[in-house]
Amino acid sequence: MRRHPNLERRTFVDKQKLEGMIQEFSEETMQRKKVDRRAFLEGAGKIAGLSLGFVIAQSMGGLDVQAKAKTIKFSSYPFTLGVCSGDPSPQGIVLWTRLAPDPLNGGGMPNEVVKVEWELAKDENFKRIVKKGSATASPNLAHSVHVEVEGLRSNEVYYYRFKSGNELSPVGRTKTLPKRSEEIQKLRFAFASCQQYEHGYYTAYKHLAEEELDVVFHLGDYIYEYGPNEYVSASGNVRTHSGPEIITLDDYRNRYAQYRSDANLKAAHAAFPWIVTWDDHEVENNYANNIPEKGQSVQAFIKRRAAAYQAYYEHMPLRKTSLPNGGDMSLYRDFSYGQLASFNVLDSRQYRDDQANGDGSKPHSEESLNPNRTMLGKQQENWLFKNLNKSKAHWNILAQQVFFAQRNFGENGEQIYSMDSWDGYPEARNRIIDFVQKKGMNNLVVLTGDVHASWASNIKTDFNNASSSLVGVEFVGTSITSGGNGADKRADTDRILAQNPHLKFFNDYRGYVRCTVTPESFQADYRVLPFVTEPNAAISTRASFVYHKDQTGLKQIGANAVPHGLKKSTEVEEDRITAHSKAHTKQVNKLKKKVEN
Ligand SMILES: [Fe+2]
Repeated sequence: MRRHPNLERRTFVDKQKLEGMIQEFSEETMQRKKVDRRAFLEGAGKIAGLSLGFVIAQSMGGLDVQAKAKTIKFSSYPFTLGVCSGDPSPQGIVLWTRLAPDPLNGGGMPNEVVKVEWELAKDENFKRIVKKGSATASPNLAHSVHVEVEGLRSNEVYYYRFKSGNELSPVGRTKTLPKRSEEIQKLRFAFASCQQYEHGYYTAYKHLAEEELDVVFHLGDYIYEYGPNEYVSASGNVRTHSGPEIITLDDYRNRYAQYRSDANLKAAHAAFPWIVTWDDHEVENNYANNIPEKGQSVQAFIKRRAAAYQAYYEHMPLRKTSLPNGGDMSLYRDFSYGQLASFNVLDSRQYRDDQANGDGSKPHSEESLNPNRTMLGKQQENWLFKNLNKSKAHWNILAQQVFFAQRNFGENGEQIYSMDSWDGYPEARNRIIDFVQKKGMNNLVVLTGDVHASWASNIKTDFNNASSSLVGVEFVGTSITSGGNGADKRADTDRILAQNPHLKFFNDYRGYVRCTVTPESFQADYRVLPFVTEPNAAISTRASFVYHKDQTGLKQIGANAVPHGLKKSTEVEEDRITAHSKAHTKQVNKLKKKVEN
């Protein structure tokens, strides 16, 4: 019998030795020894790889238990979290569901491996079934089901559903990718990010589900880790996180279940295949590799991150190649949409150096300008260069998390940059821009989430020199809900756009970005809502930009006023970071109180 490679790793674990190593790298010890951050990171990585190998490997037992799977009778409906599909290929797709009759309280399933059948058809009524099979839902993976269907036709729409016991799941619709060699004339997709459940309703997803799209990208902050009302938006929270700040595997599972119970989110998942990546809040605000926010031991954080990664895998339509492995998880991967577009989906959290200059918004220093700094880690960076090097696609797209273009928001001539974004890793960014420039490419498109606002930018080889050449563009998508209602612009918008001439657009309403790609042009429509604190807001296109791979860069081809929305707020860019630190203070105070009692 062949075993999954993850199961082979456990024999290398020496528990006593590990505990010693963890101790050695605990925060206290680190302070005493003044170990430099980089060495610390490497050490911490090794510990994570070893100590958690055992825990995670055990939990992967579900892979070999097909024979033991039982058919059970459900007392309440198990498909409460809907269905979804993702990671399409020209021949295949991942189908996902999770059995959870009591979604907010651990799922409510017996501690047994349960049989789940699936069907994939050409029609919604399942008259023309193309493939079917049987899968298992194991308690070790929260009774989630990941089916990797192969042998399908390329660029084709399919419908799928699951059955367990006497219960039938809702029907999902999905689509395979075109063949790699195919000349495709058009691709329509949308990308979304940042969906703080408490900040508003997922109206954007209701509209997204009604679009005509080939695929959807999610660029991170799918969940937020905060306890109820710790992270409060300017327009006030309208829903409440169930349970306190999430730390354990059960906590993370329950949080995903709460988010996934939302009908609009379920509709968007069921409508298209999704390609997902994470940012920080799937684990914790602004974590970097194995480094947590302040106030936690590294030892505890390594365990927390492993729990968070596992719950992420359990709730996303990912392939076996993304199974958590020793506390790490492989999430960066690439997709070809025929010859039209090559997508590189990045992970800018798991392998990055710690934020420089103590994080936050800071001027540059020797630390942030250090040429050795890495955002992607060496392996992922080399993988990206390899892909870009061999790509013959009309467009090379980076689907990723944090702001790529330079963005100085200092006042009175001061240079202030976000240390959490690529601005905090300028030499790592330059390596990518230099590579693209040396290859003579001008077809780079960066898709970004994180900052809870829409932006559009030209990517220049030197952002401080208007006459330097242009290698591509960046479209930053606003949040689904995070930040609350927002406004057409913020108090500091005009100043920031004026002092960063490569930045062409800003908007602070919630929504998503819809893209239409042809061999010659890349168009982004900023689809926005005037409010999220009440349900049922209408969607409209606030602005459309197109890029034709020429040195003039982004061209605005449409602009519309959004009816009923606030025109200008008193908020500034820095408020997002302040809201996070307020939330963190609340968490630290709660922890202190707990320790005192
Ligand atoms: Fe976010």
